[in-house]
Amino acid sequence: MERSSTVLLNSGRSMPVLGLGTWQLEDDTAGTVEEALELGYRMIDTSGDYGTQPGIGEAFRRSGVDREEIFLVTKVEEDEDSYEATRYNLDQLDGEYTDLMLIHRPPENGIGRRLWEGLIRAKEEGLARDIGVSNYAPQQIHALVEATGEPPVVNQIEWSPFGWSKETLAYCRAHGIVIQAYSPLTRTERLDDERLDAIAEVYDKTPAQVILRWNLQRGTVPLPKANRREHLVENLDVFDFEIDETHMHELDDLNERYSSLGSLPYV
Ligand SMILES: NC(=O)c1ccc[n+]([C@@H]2O[C@H](COP(=O)([O-])OP(=O)(O)OC[C@H]3O[C@@H](n4cnc5c(N)ncnc54)[C@H](OP(=O)(O)O)[C@@H]3O)[C@@H](O)[C@H]2O)c1
Repeated sequence: MERSSTVLLNSGRSMPVLGLGTWQLEDDTAGTVEEALELGYRMIDTSGDYGTQPGIGEAFRRSGVDREEIFLVTKVEEDEDSYEATRYNLDQLDGEYTDLMLIHRPPENGIGRRLWEGLIRAKEEGLARDIGVSNYAPQQIHALVEATGEPPVVNQIEWSPFGWSKETLAYCRAHGIVIQAYSPLTRTERLDDERLDAIAEVYDKTPAQVILRWNLQRGTVPLPKANRREHLVENLDVFDFEIDETHMHELDDLNERYSSLGSLPYV
């Protein structure tokens, strides 16, 4: 696996194996994303409610990287008209399409059928090349597909060795849905775990790099956020080592259903 490696989506398109998160990347968004593109990041994750879309659009224009080489992910909110929100997000991004549009989270009541139908229309009109969900439990995905016949390509959920779910992984694998791992670095809260650190030492890597590599080897796609250049560089430097199966299982066993954002249905 290399930095330019991709994972196949159930639509037939492909997506980079690692991307940059931009929630709270407000400190010079355009400059940081431009730097990330220069360093080799080719997937950027944002949302209509992050406030980072205009800066990302500016970074795309400034970077000189062909737009077709970048995989852009953004999201609509559960209380929005998803088709109109897609158009609004594209305006903010100053772009003609997004590679992937997600429902940010299921509505409190129901599975988001109308939201999903709005995204299906956005896809048919070429505004979104692929569509997916975020914060959905397997049974909610199942109900959405039963109702509409349209499977999501991705489920973006909180995911790390400290909080993950064998059942969700098995469900998504069986249905060709790629898990994008958000808050993969536990928002730094578990990076000083001694067991994680011991494994990192074996490979002469940092705890953050070991977590990212664990994702790559399990087929999940991490979206680490980084404002600092040293973090941007470090998080991309995960393609020159392989964690052996014993250590992979030790990492799996760190699972304590941890969630930095609160108790979630899929971990
Ligand atoms: N769909 C959803 O509901 C949802 C929810 C949450 C997040 N997300 C997405 O997932 C992305 C990532 O999640 P997140 O931002 O919550 O948390 P995260 O990526 O787990 O953690 C970000 C924090 O880790 C630090 N960091 C980055 N690289 C590091 C390294 N190599 N060593 C030590 N610290 C490092 C960052 O510092 P600096 O910034 O100072 O470099 C920042 O404080 C978000 O930005 C967003 O795009 C989606």
